[in-house]
Amino acid sequence: MQEEQTVRLRGKTVVVTEEMRQKVLEEMPEIAWISDEGLKAKVLGAWAGALAASGFDRIGDMKPSGNYDSMPLRAGTQADHMRSVTRLAVAMAEEFDSLLPGFKYDRDILIAGGLCHDIGKVWEFDPENVERWRADPSNSGMPSIRHPGYGVHICLTAELPEEVAHIAGAHSGEGELLTRSLENTIIHWADYSFWKIIESGGQLADRDDWLPPEKKAH
Ligand SMILES: [Fe+2]
Repeated sequence: MQEEQTVRLRGKTVVVTEEMRQKVLEEMPEIAWISDEGLKAKVLGAWAGALAASGFDRIGDMKPSGNYDSMPLRAGTQADHMRSVTRLAVAMAEEFDSLLPGFKYDRDILIAGGLCHDIGKVWEFDPENVERWRADPSNSGMPSIRHPGYGVHICLTAELPEEVAHIAGAHSGEGELLTRSLENTIIHWADYSFWKIIESGGQLADRDDWLPPEKKAH
């Protein structure tokens, strides 16, 4: 029996139930690879809370792309993206571990970070937000907060370790302003490899049916 977890985001208080955790686990079964039970529960709780406080029911309901306005995957979901990045990252770390006796990394943080690195997309990819930002970019920016920024907010609110919040916040361009941790360096390159290989392999869609249509100015 898991401890009850409450996540408060954007004025909504979400009580995370076992059913909600199971739904997240079904979409990203690699969460079970995390050996620390407390960390595993926090990853499940962070995702369940983030989804419940957003306009999305499932991770797979989000546009499967790198940014809100970039082209989506031809096949596969946003959950598949995070699963693949995590699996690539673990394979990379295991390769270095087998080659270099002194190579030390935190496997649980790597997996949790990989599965949470894009958690802030619940904000950046919300079609209502996109529509609002587009209506007046001078009001709150466009996007107002990218997924790394909002990801940090979710991670810290859900009491994930700072090492995981760091991966959410600095896996992308934001990380050029600081020194990335080892685990974040691996996630960063796994993430960039994913999108570059997808593009080179012709696996991006030819058209974007996800973004709400732009309203024409008169
Ligand atoms: Fe990503």
